[in-house]
Amino acid sequence: MVFGSWLQAGEGAEWWSEETVAVVTGANRGIGLEVCRQLADKGLTVIMTARKPQEQLSSAAQQFLQEAAETGRKNVIFHTLDITQQQSVLDFVDWLKLTVGFADILVNHAAVDNSVIDWNLKEWNNVDQSTMLALLTWANGVSDKYESARGCLETNFYGTKRLTKALLPLLRPSSHKPRIVKRLIQIWTTLLRDEELRKQLCETASLTEEKIDEGLDMFLEDVKSEKGMDRWPIKYPTYSISKISLNAYTRLLALQLHDKACVNSVHPGYVRTDMNLGNGDLSPAEGAANLVRVALLPPGGPSGHNFLEGEDVEF
Ligand SMILES: NC(=O)c1ccc[n+]([C@@H]2O[C@H](COP(=O)([O-])OP(=O)(O)OC[C@H]3O[C@@H](n4cnc5c(N)ncnc54)[C@H](OP(=O)(O)O)[C@@H]3O)[C@@H](O)[C@H]2O)c1
Repeated sequence: MVFGSWLQAGEGAEWWSEETVAVVTGANRGIGLEVCRQLADKGLTVIMTARKPQEQLSSAAQQFLQEAAETGRKNVIFHTLDITQQQSVLDFVDWLKLTVGFADILVNHAAVDNSVIDWNLKEWNNVDQSTMLALLTWANGVSDKYESARGCLETNFYGTKRLTKALLPLLRPSSHKPRIVKRLIQIWTTLLRDEELRKQLCETASLTEEKIDEGLDMFLEDVKSEKGMDRWPIKYPTYSISKISLNAYTRLLALQLHDKACVNSVHPGYVRTDMNLGNGDLSPAEGAANLVRVALLPPGGPSGHNFLEGEDVEF
């Protein structure tokens, strides 16, 4: 289904207000910061979070908060949140419960890509950085070491899942279903080169949390032993498997929550952020707009779907 059809289905339904509370993770820079700006401009209350304390935020994030304060805007509130730290997540959820009491939208944006890139490979002579990033593979120029792979999975998959689970009790049951948006790269199932693994992680009907965890454990074992990597994604394997697993969890959670919440994945497009070393087709504001549109889909909107730059696509 084309994204526009969802919009048309509830056209004109600006269902949110300042009473609507959106939690955004990884908002220190790039797209996450822009998501906060756009949601605040639309009048929602934004809980902007980042792993650093407020005084250590990027100058852009500090400026955004300062401008909000100077213009008397009360709909932007900052709180520190490191999704890899259980205590940080618990502290955040306790604080939210005490001060605000609930959330309507969760935008899981925080992520890392810990791949180590060898920029000095001879074959990259005379290739521009953008082309090189598109061509790099496990076998050629990108190495995923065990510790950095574990760190990437800990943030992108386990951290996102940890926060999502901890926030579920605070997602407000209302006439408008709460929304959970997972900030994902769209990974086609074909990236998994092993048929069994593909079935394990991609067939929604037989998915379980244990199966997803098993897949990640197997992946880490293969990274550690440097054997068996030929069954995993050839490009940026750790980053890719973290997103494949998150896609799987998105579909599973959408099923588990059924009509209680909308849970969707979004690919914002190829965006010029630090993660891409500034390469990309879209500005962070354009990428953020693709995310915000899904977070604000009208009542009756989809759940368990995957959106790529405004289109509802296969996982
Ligand atoms: N850029 C693209 O073209 C593109 C395309 C598809 C999908 N994505 C997705 O977009 C997300 C990254 O966005 P980006 O491109 O804007 O990358 P980015 O500029 O690298 O931003 C990532 C953000 O995540 C934060 N973060 C990392 N670990 C965290 C943790 N443990 N707790 C809380 N926050 C943490 C970082 O915080 P610090 O600032 O403190 O480091 C940073 O603010 C990822 O989910 C990625 O898969 C990006």
